[in-house]
Amino acid sequence: MTTLEQTVLEGFSARFGKTPDSLWSAPGRVNLIGEHTDYNDGFVLPFAIDRRTLMAVRMREDRVIRIATSFAPDTVEIAIDAIGPDTVSGWSAYPLGMVWGTREFGASLDGVTGFDAYLESDIPVGAGLSSSAALESVFGLAVTELWGLGFDRQTIARIGQFNENQVVGAPTGIMDQSASLLGARDSAVLLDCRSLDASVIPLGLADAGLVIAVIDTRVSHEHATGGYAARRASCELGARLLGVTSLRDLTVDDLGRAEAELDDETFRRVRHIITENERVLETVRTLRDRGATAIGPLLDASHVSMRDDFEISVPELDLAVSTAQLQGAVGARMTGGGFGGSAIAVIAGSKVDALRAAVESAFADAGYAHPDVFVVTPSAGASREPLS
Ligand code: GLA
Repeated sequence: MTTLEQTVLEGFSARFGKTPDSLWSAPGRVNLIGEHTDYNDGFVLPFAIDRRTLMAVRMREDRVIRIATSFAPDTVEIAIDAIGPDTVSGWSAYPLGMVWGTREFGASLDGVTGFDAYLESDIPVGAGLSSSAALESVFGLAVTELWGLGFDRQTIARIGQFNENQVVGAPTGIMDQSASLLGARDSAVLLDCRSLDASVIPLGLADAGLVIAVIDTRVSHEHATGGYAARRASCELGARLLGVTSLRDLTVDDLGRAEAELDDETFRRVRHIITENERVLETVRTLRDRGATAIGPLLDASHVSMRDDFEISVPELDLAVSTAQLQGAVGARMTGGGFGGSAIAVIAGSKVDALRAAVESAFADAGYAHPDVFVVTPSAGASREPLS
């Protein structure tokens, strides 16, 4: 049993005075490439990581849900029938909003009983590693199975996105929940965000002697307001002005027309999405034909596009990326929604200690907060865990 499993089981017993009868887990994610393409019906290539949220559950006989965690002092208690977009808030809106979401997606909750649940996580919050999607995914999978709702994983991901959009109020896409639910060991998930077709793409990192290092800049980001929503609005404007349903419908052949018809800023937003979709597909082809050591230039180009065209990077992310490149990374880029969070570097395992030292010293010299550098392993998606 891992330490995290032990902590969640002990936390459950301490809070509720009983032992749990099932255990569930869902991972955070890192996006290898394909940023802001999800809400443009495009392609993304994320993977689930070896940092997870665990949820211990014990079924009740009434229709009450009680939910608690070590990272908030309160135990939230609510009747199943009272759960709606206006009755949940704070941290518990992420899991509890999923109950309302299952109803909106057609589930009948007549006859189901409530439960007590305790959550514990080692996914850093605010680092751009989708700690919130993990909360939604673990809860969505657990209620789907415990209540026999019959949703497949793609649908649970859609309910998670719906919850994020309607209850939490962040206009995010489908990527994070999909990665958390569909991830597979040593692999990334190629997701077509229009059809929701998902394919598992082996990364072959170990064979190539490579790892993926996360550089958490400790600059926290916020997607419910501000830049994220503004980028989404620019993309929708660009699609409308160019007469397509979404930017997914455009290719590099349309760039000339886009430049002629759009203002400079909207054009650059559109160019990022068009070229990023191409880079995702090219990354998949490169992984298959030439292996992980050959994907570096695509990651580097993705970062430049986010920095200059989409303008979602921050100086800390740029410094993390350039330092990783100087330390011999195969490729590096910021990952996730931007405006803070983490960068990733694909790098030889033997170079990680030097990378950490170099990033720490570059950040200290620049007067930035102390960054956190750690390796993540592509891992399996959400699952029911054995209870010993
Ligand atoms: C956040 C959102 C995702 C996606 C990324 C950017 O992580 O939750 O839906 O849009 O940003 O690729």
